[in-house]
Amino acid sequence: MIHDKTPLPDLKDWRFSIDVENIAWAIFDREGESVNSLGRRPLEELDAIVAKTEELARDGAVKGLVLMSGKDNFIAGADIREFEEFDTEEKVKEVLSPPLELLDRIEKLRVPVVAAIHGYCLGGGLELVLACDWRIADREEGTRLGFPEVKLGIFPGLNGTIRSIRQAGPLNAMTAMLTAKFYRPTAARAIGLVDQLVPTHHGLRWAARKAVLKKRHSKGAGWLQRMMQMSPIRGYLAGQMRKKTKAKVREDHYPAPFRLIDLFEQYGGDLKEMKSEETEAFAPLMVSDTSRNLRRVFKLSEMLKAEAPKQEKGMDAFRPLRVHVIGAGTMGADIAAWCVVSGMQASLQDLSEEQLEKGLARGQKLFKKRLRSKRDQDAAKARLVADPHGKHLPRADVVIEAIVEKLDVKQSLFKDIEEKLKPGAVLATNTSSLKLEDIAEGLKDPGRLIGLHFFNPVPQLPLVEVVRGEQSREDEVRKACLFVTAINKMPLIVRSVPGFLVNRVLAPYMMESVAQFESGQPREKIDQAAEKFGMPMGPLELMDMVGLDICDHVGKTLGLAPEGENTLSRLVKEGKLGKKTGEGFYVWKDGKPLREEAEYEPEELDRLAAELIKPLLDEAERARDDHVVESGDLVDAGVIFGTGFAPFRGGPLHYRETQNAQDSAVAA
Ligand code: NAI
Repeated sequence: MIHDKTPLPDLKDWRFSIDVENIAWAIFDREGESVNSLGRRPLEELDAIVAKTEELARDGAVKGLVLMSGKDNFIAGADIREFEEFDTEEKVKEVLSPPLELLDRIEKLRVPVVAAIHGYCLGGGLELVLACDWRIADREEGTRLGFPEVKLGIFPGLNGTIRSIRQAGPLNAMTAMLTAKFYRPTAARAIGLVDQLVPTHHGLRWAARKAVLKKRHSKGAGWLQRMMQMSPIRGYLAGQMRKKTKAKVREDHYPAPFRLIDLFEQYGGDLKEMKSEETEAFAPLMVSDTSRNLRRVFKLSEMLKAEAPKQEKGMDAFRPLRVHVIGAGTMGADIAAWCVVSGMQASLQDLSEEQLEKGLARGQKLFKKRLRSKRDQDAAKARLVADPHGKHLPRADVVIEAIVEKLDVKQSLFKDIEEKLKPGAVLATNTSSLKLEDIAEGLKDPGRLIGLHFFNPVPQLPLVEVVRGEQSREDEVRKACLFVTAINKMPLIVRSVPGFLVNRVLAPYMMESVAQFESGQPREKIDQAAEKFGMPMGPLELMDMVGLDICDHVGKTLGLAPEGENTLSRLVKEGKLGKKTGEGFYVWKDGKPLREEAEYEPEELDRLAAELIKPLLDEAERARDDHVVESGDLVDAGVIFGTGFAPFRGGPLHYRETQNAQDSAVAA
């Protein structure tokens, strides 16, 4: 029974109880939400719970407090929906003040506070548990701990910077914050973010009870780790971190990790001082355009996931397990290997044995990179088979064609395989530029064909366009989306128009880069300009990666190629197709383009980038007006996730709006 000097308010997001052993249990289960996140109300309620525990502890009526989750995840982070109210640095500091105090009070409670973690414990959730005396996590597959903040253009702002350093030492803690890596329970335990592990969530309550009764209190990082906070080691470490971070991101595009390193370098020797400086350094990041735009990107990804058709219970549930990919070239091999990484079985068909061998070898490279244990890698290897004669085709749940981009060849292939498919199997083409309706022409059941348009490189780009042809049946589109979700990609349903969404928007930008090259701009300068704008790679390098034959075809299909020859078609004629043949705009060696060293004035690069990007922005507006996808937000989502378009700029339409607003502000 809870006695009532300070009655608890009516709790909506937490359940609070005290058991017969006088242990207080606070179970976080946010009302009306499938995932726990820290928003204003849950924090206010936790504040009341902590106040109540304080009062009871003073009277000797509780021995400790355990924080747990009533859902499958622990706490996925702060509730970023509430970030929108942060319009000034003062407002950020004002809003942060109560939770900062709350975490201090948790830390100072006279009885032990134990966090029992099952599922995702990220961002603000991890900051909260770091204020507890003892952290226990289960070893289950879905349990992960980490600080994803830098991906949102900020760093931990609830004193997670200092508490993680105190627990894990500066090297481990800074690495966790700078890389945004999600740690498995064993790894989190190894670096000190967690104090104790139990095999499954069933063991959490018992372990937490014991930790309270034994008054467990974490000792934090060992002396060797603590030494690293001292000067001059700290300065050296900061220098190394800066170098590593610079190799990954540009400071002008992504300032958050650099501000975090500055904070550590300046104040990391005295965690008390670092604590008060954390908010000072955090607030300007939170109100920056970069963070706003990265939050927008996060929301767009959530929107794509939320809008994807869901599995329906009952008879027509579609659970794809076997995939058959025809064409083991640049795309097909990677698509098959990616499906295997996602747990499926894949068979890979090609006319050329050499291509099949290369395809399997690429798969193994990917398994090594993506799968941790040798056992998982071997199992994956066994799930990917070469199938030159298509023996596995009749058993496949999903069949994806990724052969040469020639209509007659694709038509005859589809005619040939239609009869062999099992009922209910998804039939898809990965075509970039051919009309779905034309490919489906010879089919007995053209309603079956849909497009599954993957992007190159498949393992890195999270989007797949699901193309709804004029004839495609809605149920096939739904099943295709389920398949895309099952391989951990984001499906974007697009209309069957030339170039669909992503290539339609990307092609004018690529053609502009060819035109700039022809007008005498060096290829290195063109690519540098685009990278300075924030593209993951320059357009000429990208075209070489994709294959110049494919790009030429897309340009022609979209009516963007000039009359007669241009550099692109000339290179294709000469058999210089880019990376796959060893030469295109660049000569390629060991998988990398050979570049000439050159430096250009930043202003010149900015001017050139603006010229390169303009056709992309124009086309994004036209695609929105033509309803290629259902909304402007989906245009931005598609272009960001399908091309890597500078995420910190929030998407092409958003960027243009921002530019227009800035221009009119200047004019006024
Ligand atoms: P690729 O030229 O690298 O590979 C095509 C493969 O298909 C070759 O291994 C070839 O031997 C094989 N092949 C040709 N005819 C065949 C047949 N009748 N049966 C079995 N195998 C056959 O081509 P890539 O780049 O992989 O493109 C494949 C498809 O994916 C094309 O439709 C292309 O438009 C599309 N695509 C390509 C992207 C890229 O970045 N390369 C991106 C997205 C889509």
